[in-house]
Amino acid sequence: MKQKEHWEKVYSTKPVERLGWYELHLQTSLNWIRELNMAGDAPIIDVGGGASTLVDDLLHEGFRCVTVMDLSAKALSLAKARLGERAKRVIWLEGDITRVDLPAHHYELWHDRAVFHFLTAPEQRERYRTSLLKALKPGGHLIMATFAPEAPPKCSGLPVRRYDVELLQNTLGAEFRPMRHQKELHVTPSGVEQMYLYCLFRRN
Ligand SMILES: C[S@@+](CC[C@H](N)C(=O)[O-])C[C@H]1O[C@@H](n2cnc3c(N)ncnc32)[C@H](O)[C@@H]1O
Repeated sequence: MKQKEHWEKVYSTKPVERLGWYELHLQTSLNWIRELNMAGDAPIIDVGGGASTLVDDLLHEGFRCVTVMDLSAKALSLAKARLGERAKRVIWLEGDITRVDLPAHHYELWHDRAVFHFLTAPEQRERYRTSLLKALKPGGHLIMATFAPEAPPKCSGLPVRRYDVELLQNTLGAEFRPMRHQKELHVTPSGVEQMYLYCLFRRN
């Protein structure tokens, strides 16, 4: 599959710290997650988590039911290697979020930074929504970070759909109530500015 090849190649050819979306810590996500005051056994999924350090930070915060899913086996293996023994405390899923079969109404938090925006075809977004509606508990939360309208039209060399809050809410559907949002300027390791939109939604 073309998308998978792209991501396997990206993670195999550059050190993680040189990837355009790299951040030492996903601080906004982490702050918002802390403020949700979830129990330590709350199931959390980081969709397209790649090699990000959010999982390290969630373990450090005491979360015991963290799942990281990603299309790229290489990305997951980098995260596992970094975590060492602690990797055993995480559920790792390799797959495509638009096709994966996740447990029903299981997760209290669904986190997605820089994944949904790659879904440029309406049918891909609809399949993503199907996975989300199946797997996120009613009353659960969704943190989504996408490129904002002023960001470049491509991320990692792939075209993206850029969102403001209204477009993101309309795309996700009436089941999701926006709770907060903020824009955040990310500067890639090579100095390119990318404006992100972070949104927190609560599922009705
Ligand atoms: C731009 S990176 C962001 C990684 C991570 N969320 C972060 O913020 O550091 C996009 C990630 O999404 C993954 N990805 C892309 N399409 C995907 C899909 N359809 N299903 C699951 N993961 C996907 C890629 O392998 C990659 O790890």
